[in-house]
Amino acid sequence: MSFLTGLGCKECDQRYPADRSFICLECFGPLEVRYDYEKIGARLNPAKIARRAPNLWRYRELLPLDGEPVTGFHSGFTPLIRADRLARRLGLKELYLKDDSVNHPSFSYKDRVVSVALSRGRELGYEVFSCASTGNLGNSVAAHCARTGLPCLIFIPETTEPSKILGSLIHGPELVGLKGNYDDVNRLCAEIGDHYGWGFVNVNLRPYYTEGAKTLGYEIVEQLGWRLPDHLVLPTAGGTLLPRVVKALDEVVQLGWADGHTKIHCAQAAGCAPVIRSLHQGLDYINPEKPNTVAKAIAIGDPADGPYVLQDVRQSGGWGEMAEDEEILDAIRLLAETEGIFTEPAGGTTLAVTIKLLHQNRIRPDESVVVGITGNGYKSQDVFMGSARISNVMRPNLMVFREWYESREEALAGASAAV
Ligand SMILES: Cc1ncc(COP(=O)(O)O)c(C=O)c1O
Ligand SMILES: [Zn+2]
Repeated sequence: MSFLTGLGCKECDQRYPADRSFICLECFGPLEVRYDYEKIGARLNPAKIARRAPNLWRYRELLPLDGEPVTGFHSGFTPLIRADRLARRLGLKELYLKDDSVNHPSFSYKDRVVSVALSRGRELGYEVFSCASTGNLGNSVAAHCARTGLPCLIFIPETTEPSKILGSLIHGPELVGLKGNYDDVNRLCAEIGDHYGWGFVNVNLRPYYTEGAKTLGYEIVEQLGWRLPDHLVLPTAGGTLLPRVVKALDEVVQLGWADGHTKIHCAQAAGCAPVIRSLHQGLDYINPEKPNTVAKAIAIGDPADGPYVLQDVRQSGGWGEMAEDEEILDAIRLLAETEGIFTEPAGGTTLAVTIKLLHQNRIRPDESVVVGITGNGYKSQDVFMGSARISNVMRPNLMVFREWYESREEALAGASAAV
């Protein structure tokens, strides 16, 4: 059974059938999926969701499919981790990490949007899939296409991190590296999408693809026991994730499954912060930037959905900040040392910005906070490669070890006293 009623323009509300359309022919605004919420409410509720398999399809009535999904049966439903050691370090009482760094199978939040885009794309008759990517999306499209036996082409900037290049190549797609940044890649993909009739998950399948991001929001609310957190901090690149998580929170409140209000905060790297700069200057449009940051996954200088991020952050009463590269790397180390989670610079950015919001008193110590950790550090190891050296190399000999250990004993005792 389908709960989809069609597509609607986000700008002028013009209606379209839920087909291959993705841009409004009246005003060129983006199209989004519309649902019959009355029908969904009559059919679905939290108790029913709780009995379903732990993947993103547990919310399938709220996702844009007519029939059965083709992939994503192990994607989503990632851990929401209560982070008490990190909370103590930051002076917070109730802190959680939504850990999409362990999303299946490609270790980032993109496994959500790709599961939905491929499933809907197959329903719409696409036979070849493609994307413009900063790395993580390409990894996810390549992995899901391999699993479903679908041909795929990935377009990335040639400067993408080596682990993310390998993370796509290993699945056997055609991989095209372009001489330029992500915005150049995206422009080319918009030009060739229509021409070849391929399903570009984040271009012509965008209305469906973006719906997959809502599942991160549903999960947070469900995992908190159908409660909205006081604050949610999310990274922004193209602006897919943040507005769709806001849509998810609105939907669960509208369906009567949870109440409360969440302030949504946006995190960007200072080397690519077009949304944050507009937020701080009180603008409702984006001035594109040329990215230069270690946080390559979120280095999008001309974000397609940037204005909606601004709108949703402001409407929620939230804020946004940007973090310098050094602050991002420090935050990655802090998360690894306190919680045992190794995130990539996108996650470091989000934590670094959370710390800034705390210092600004926009988040108060007794409020509940969820930080979105959207990518995995093992895929961006190059940012730390200089420190991947063993400082204690010794002969395998007990006397040699003892001598070293005795010289280190005081430091080690200090570290365990701090636990
Ligand atoms: C790890 C990670 N986090 C966050 C984002 C931000 O995504 P969005 O484009 O939805 O704003 C991306 C986008 O590529 C990403 O790779
Ligand atoms: Zn329109």
